This record gives sequence, structure tokens and C-alpha cells, in this order.
Amino acid sequence: MKIAIAGVTGLVGQKLLEILSERGFPCDQLIPIASPRSEGKQLEWRGKNHTIVGAAQGLSQKPDLAFFAAGGDFSKEWAPRFAETGAYVIDKSSAWRMVKGIPLVIPEINSHAMTDQTRIIASPNCSTSQLVLALKPLQDHFGLERVVVSTYQSMSGSGVKAMEQYDQELIDPASANKCYSYQILDNCIPQCDVFLDNGYTKEEMKLIEESRKILGLQDLAITATAVRVPVKVGHSESVSITLSEDFTLVDIRQCLADMPGIKLVDDHSKLQYPMPLHAAGDDLTHVGRIRRDESLPRSLHLWVVSDNLRKGAATNAVQIAESLIHQGLLKAVYA
Ligand SMILES: NC(=O)c1ccc[n+]([C@@H]2O[C@H](COP(=O)([O-])OP(=O)(O)OC[C@H]3O[C@@H](n4cnc5c(N)ncnc54)[C@H](OP(=O)(O)O)[C@@H]3O)[C@@H](O)[C@H]2O)c1
Repeated sequence: MKIAIAGVTGLVGQKLLEILSERGFPCDQLIPIASPRSEGKQLEWRGKNHTIVGAAQGLSQKPDLAFFAAGGDFSKEWAPRFAETGAYVIDKSSAWRMVKGIPLVIPEINSHAMTDQTRIIASPNCSTSQLVLALKPLQDHFGLERVVVSTYQSMSGSGVKAMEQYDQELIDPASANKCYSYQILDNCIPQCDVFLDNGYTKEEMKLIEESRKILGLQDLAITATAVRVPVKVGHSESVSITLSEDFTLVDIRQCLADMPGIKLVDDHSKLQYPMPLHAAGDDLTHVGRIRRDESLPRSLHLWVVSDNLRKGAATNAVQIAESLIHQGLLKAVYA
């Protein structure tokens, strides 16, 4: 098994290395790929030194599997070229997610969307992944009528440069080197990614469109507000849901607890609720603050928190690769 990781020096690339090791994923040869800035640098993984190469050199080594975490422009250009050689490309960028015929996969929900004809597989946006995991069991048991989500997204969701901005602002809040349009220290910025013509940000539209695609509900009434907060790791979401059928909270808790990938953290009498502090480092998506919305029939509120670098990015990508192996689409031998 030859595995390429494009964007290996970035936050997601580094987390991919960590999770591949953690899960004992089979790998005979690692092909670490980054930008020309990093080419030639050494990287240590599983006790061996590896030399970082550019995309063309990585492609020439014909990987069986390629994880892409180097941004959308890179994926648009290189994913088809890697796929043409027969490699499965698992892409973390937004480049291919909404393209017809490209599976957008959360393995707990729709790994069946992958076939041997689909060499490029998209992994959802971090804020989408945790949202659909919580929505899926409610969809299956009660039907979804409307979803309103507000996010509180951590800085690591914006990559290395955002973390550098925060670290510099801790020393000097007026420091000039900005990843965001404004200071993030002591602030909440109601803008994740760029604004679109309809007044939503690109992040908000990703949440809306990707959720519809993964859940197979093209007409789902869903709206989003995405906010960046000065938290290092872990996205939080306040989710208001109207279901098609009425429910009891006991049934809601049960179906969420039964959903793979979800951990219920929901006992307000003991002040137990999901928080980034506790969800960071966990592969499970934490769900709590479950309560009936007393202002609307058939409606409830959830608070959903997940590690954006794990289930929101690297863990989901590795789980996709594991699904390819389980489905016999990718040949691998575990040690
Ligand atoms: N962070 C998250 O929580 C998260 C979640 C889901 C999806 N994603 C997506 O995952 C991707 C990576 O995100 P990140 O947060 O890891 O970003 P990041 O920390 O900024 O890292 C970007 C990586 O891409 C590499 N790169 C940039 N231009 C390249 C080029 N022309 N050729 C080869 N490599 C290039 C960089 O290499 P150098 O070090 O050499 O510059 C670096 O390794 C993005 O598409 C992002 O939207 C991120």
C-alpha cells in the first residue's frame, strides 16, 4: 500500500499521519506532498525519515491511495490526474463535494455511495460532518422538516495561518499578520470563508448544500449562520430542528445514542454537556442540551460539538479509506 498525503505539513495533513498510525492503517510507503516551500524537507513518521516532494513527483510514484488536504485549487488540478492512474483520491477540500457523480461520504451514513467507478471521493466540510451525524438518526426515525444551525467554529478550521494569527495576537493584539479580516482574540467573527451574492458565506452554503447531498434530501429546508470563535480545536453547533412526526425526548436520546459516531453528553443536573475542551481529541461527535423547543410543534434543540481536525477532517478521511478496504474496493493487508 503506497499512500500519498498532499498537504502533509498542514493541520489536516499532520492529523492524518497521527490517525493513520493510531488506527494501524496499512502503509508500505508514504509519499508526503506539500508546496514548493516544503519540498526537500524531512518528515519523520513511524520511525522513518521521509522526504517531502511536489505533486508531480508524488504522482510519478503511483500511489494506491491519496489523501488530499492542500486546498481546493490543488485538488481541482491534481485529483483527476492521480485518479487517472487508478489511485483512490480522498479529498478534504471543497473542490469536488458538490460535483454530480462524486460521492460525498460520511462512512456511518453513506459509504454505499462509493464504487470502483468513483476514484475521487469527497469528505465533507468539518461543520457539515458533525451536523449530519446528529441529523441522520432523527431523519430515519421522525423525518426532517426544517433545520436551523448556528456554528461556533474553532480557529484550526482555517489552517495553520489562523493559529499563527491567534498566537501573535496573544503577544500584540494589533499585530498586522491577519488570516481573518479582524482580530480573533477576544472576538467572534460572523464570517467563515468569503461572502456570496445571496449574503450567506461560502461556509454557510457548504453546510446547507452538503447536508442535503449526504442525507439525500435535496429539498430540505435548512439555513445556517457560521461564526468563528477564539477556540483552538472543536466546532460547536446550536441546532434547531423541526421533525415531521412528534417525538418523546426519551426516543430522541435513544436514537441519537444508537447512532455510530455519536456520544451523548446530556445531563444538565450534573452540568454535563458537550464542549470543545472535552470533544477535542475524540473521534466521536458529542451531542447534548437536548430539549423540546417550546415555541414550535415537533421541534427540538441540540448542541453538537466535534473535533474539526478529527471527525471533521482526518478521521473521516481515514474511515473512508477503511470503508474502501472493507468493501473490497481497495486491497490492503493489516499487519
Ligand atoms: N482545518 C480543518 O479543520 C479542515 C477541516 C475540513 C477540511 N479542511 C480542508 O483541508 C484542506 C487543508 O486544510 P488545513 O487546515 O490543513 O490547511 P493548512 O494548515 O493551511 O495546510 C495547507 C497544506 O497545503 C499545502 N499546500 C498549499 N499549496 C500547495 C501546493 N500548491 N502544492 C502542494 N501542497 C500545497 C501546504 O504546504 P506548505 O506547508 O508547503 O505550504 C500545507 O501542507 C483545505 O482544503 C481545508 O479547507 C480543513
